Amino acid sequence: MDRHEHWNSIYQTKAVTDVSWFESDPQISVELINTASSSHGRVIDVGGGASRLVDRLVATGFESVTVLDISEIALEHAKARLGAQAAQVHWIVGDICQIAELPPCDVWHDRAVLHFLTEPNDRRKYVDSVTRTVRIGGHVIIGTFAVDGPLKCSGLEVCRYDAGTLSRELGPRFKLVRELSHTHLTPTSKQQHFFFGLFELLPLLVASTLSPGSSV
Ligand SMILES: C[S@@+](CC[C@H](N)C(=O)[O-])C[C@H]1O[C@@H](n2cnc3c(N)ncnc32)[C@H](O)[C@@H]1O
Repeated sequence: MDRHEHWNSIYQTKAVTDVSWFESDPQISVELINTASSSHGRVIDVGGGASRLVDRLVATGFESVTVLDISEIALEHAKARLGAQAAQVHWIVGDICQIAELPPCDVWHDRAVLHFLTEPNDRRKYVDSVTRTVRIGGHVIIGTFAVDGPLKCSGLEVCRYDAGTLSRELGPRFKLVRELSHTHLTPTSKQQHFFFGLFELLPLLVASTLSPGSSV
């Protein structure tokens, strides 16, 4: 089964409130996004699925809100919940490792998507996409399973991260400005340890002067 079929079958067969990653209130994400963009600029939620984060972003009045997901069924759930407000959101169905271009943004948010990219080539494409999409000086929020988090989710293997490994994965242009640990309680009351990093995208020249061994 390919990724698209895999995720569609999950969103077809389970209630959105029963999936292990369900949050009734995406509090950590909201707080980090508000920290990253106090002026409420342009946000993209990558792999947003049926998350309630989009409701909060629209209610706050962010300048533009884009939600991307590989599963159109997940996005249909979110649209149905939002009703008329769904028209205020830019919805994109696609695989983050395949998509050529995304609307420019001030804040990139990803809760529990990067950690499914177990192939280095996919992770390289993901980082290329972030770098092309986020404005210089903009912010990237990534939440993944922590190093003591689950080894699998939805039957798929994951990569687990801490501040060091996530910073290395993203590369020298991403400056870690805040990190936090979070214990997520699943709908069946299991604890899952997450790591969240808030990064600033540095200009190429600044990043290359910080990177050991690089020449300007
Ligand atoms: C664990 S869920 C998290 C959903 C949401 N971020 C949240 O916190 O509720 C992972 C989401 O990523 C989506 N996804 C998985 N792989 C993807 C990919 N390669 N490109 C885009 N979306 C993907 C899935 O459809 C699913 O909605």
